[in-house]
Amino acid sequence: MEAFLEVRDVTKAFPGVLANDRVNLSLQAGEVHAILGENGAGKSTLMKLIYGLYQPDAGEIRLEGKTMHFQSPRDAIRAGIGMVHQHFMLIPALTVADNVVLGEEPGRIRYDRKEAVRRVRALSEQYRLAVDPTAKIGSLSVGLQQRVEILKAFYRKAKVLILDEPTALLTPQETEELFEVVRHLKSQGIPVLFISHKLDEVRAIADRVTVMRAGRTVETVPVAGATAQELANLMVGRDVVLRIDKQPASPGRAVLDVRDLAVVGDDKQERVRGVSFSVHAGEIFGLAGIDGNGQFELVDAVAGLLRVARGSIHLDGEDISHLTPAQRIAQGMSYVPQDRQLDGLVLEFDLVENTILRDFRRRPFSRAGWLQRLPALRHTERLMERFDVRPRNPERRAGELSGGNQQKVILAREVSRNPKLLIVAQPTRGLDVGAIEGIHRELIRLRDAGTAVLLVSLELDEILSLSDRIGVIHHGRLVDIVSAQTATREQIGLLMTGTQAPGGSEEVFNT
Ligand SMILES: Nc1ncnc2c1ncn2[C@@H]1O[C@H](COP(=O)(O)OP(=O)(O)O)[C@@H](O)[C@H]1O
Ligand SMILES: [Mg+2]
Repeated sequence: MEAFLEVRDVTKAFPGVLANDRVNLSLQAGEVHAILGENGAGKSTLMKLIYGLYQPDAGEIRLEGKTMHFQSPRDAIRAGIGMVHQHFMLIPALTVADNVVLGEEPGRIRYDRKEAVRRVRALSEQYRLAVDPTAKIGSLSVGLQQRVEILKAFYRKAKVLILDEPTALLTPQETEELFEVVRHLKSQGIPVLFISHKLDEVRAIADRVTVMRAGRTVETVPVAGATAQELANLMVGRDVVLRIDKQPASPGRAVLDVRDLAVVGDDKQERVRGVSFSVHAGEIFGLAGIDGNGQFELVDAVAGLLRVARGSIHLDGEDISHLTPAQRIAQGMSYVPQDRQLDGLVLEFDLVENTILRDFRRRPFSRAGWLQRLPALRHTERLMERFDVRPRNPERRAGELSGGNQQKVILAREVSRNPKLLIVAQPTRGLDVGAIEGIHRELIRLRDAGTAVLLVSLELDEILSLSDRIGVIHHGRLVDIVSAQTATREQIGLLMTGTQAPGGSEEVFNT
């Protein structure tokens, strides 16, 4: 059977990168086809080729059996291709209807706004994309703005819909609603190309999946026959460990000791309300909680970024409650903050400078007050190799890297300092499975080397798979501390909502 849309041996190079290398893809009528690949695999480039934003260097794109030569998205849209980009392209000050019809307004001489509203309402019913045509875009949630983008495509009579990482900015609820829309489109015979780097999503929504890696299409398989593990391996190109094996911890002395800590937020509210715990050498202490329950204020206070309102923080027996962040770092503390762009990297600096940011006054990076570029460069190269930072160019400015690679640079820097205490907040947010595995391994390696690790994450699975003990925070209070060996997801989930397990919990070693 002739495919609805077919990409044959398409190649596209950018200076220094072969973004698409003889890519093949065949989209059948009425299927949801996922393109799965890590960041940088070439997914968006392929979609932009299909949408006429780029022209292929070689190969061809066929639609319903005919070779296409799109010079611009205008040509692609005219041929029936609809695309919703990773970043929306709507005008916030205009209404939904105005945005949908923009450039193809109804009305002979003057724009017939009533007619626009009527048509948009009809489309919105036909495609089950409920949204008020008269609402201002700026007042809509991200999920609703995305619907408007989809409506725009169908107003222009799209016969196929391309969604590029459509769930990146959606809440779980909005994601489920989007999936409903996709299922409805499928039932109407409209094929959907669904781009993602998330395994679970692909498995939930797609009929077939084409895996891309390093600019190539690796394989196309039916989703029903593929396990998460198989897909992860195809995506990364080797056996990926979705859950890290680790030996039981052998904890030593208490490195961090937090006593009755209270922290007041910017709004003068007490965000951390009398928290006590300790983190021992050679253990990972995970702090679980729903966002906004004081966990990030807690670690900011330990790192010295927020003032201690009450209580104390001891590092290796010494009271550091009132030291500056720099003094704490000098005492052997490392911090990987949640907001890497704000606190973690200097975006205008290159990777060498960022890597030695904390240690540039020390040997071997400095001698008699002079910066030693070569040792710093070598050190950076080694770290980039070990943490698989891409592209492997130490002279890139940090700001030019993808978010995932920025995160790897920060972790590499902090981990390589062999700190006594490492605080990590959301270490794998936004990263690919392959990168997550690497970072989890490094954290466990550091633990096994005797570092005390304080981990904060909103991903319960990450807390469960890494931690030796888990503290659960709710409303600024530590509700309980449990052993990760015996804790269950359900138990921690309940604690996160502030519900104590009946009969209280077992005693776990403390202080
Ligand atoms: N316009 C461009 N100019 C230069 N390089 C680009 C451009 N677009 C993408 N790239 C590079 O091509 C590769 C593939 O990128 P992309 O298609 O965006 O991947 P994905 O969407 O899978 O994350 C990356 O190395 C990226 O840096
Ligand atoms: Mg992309």
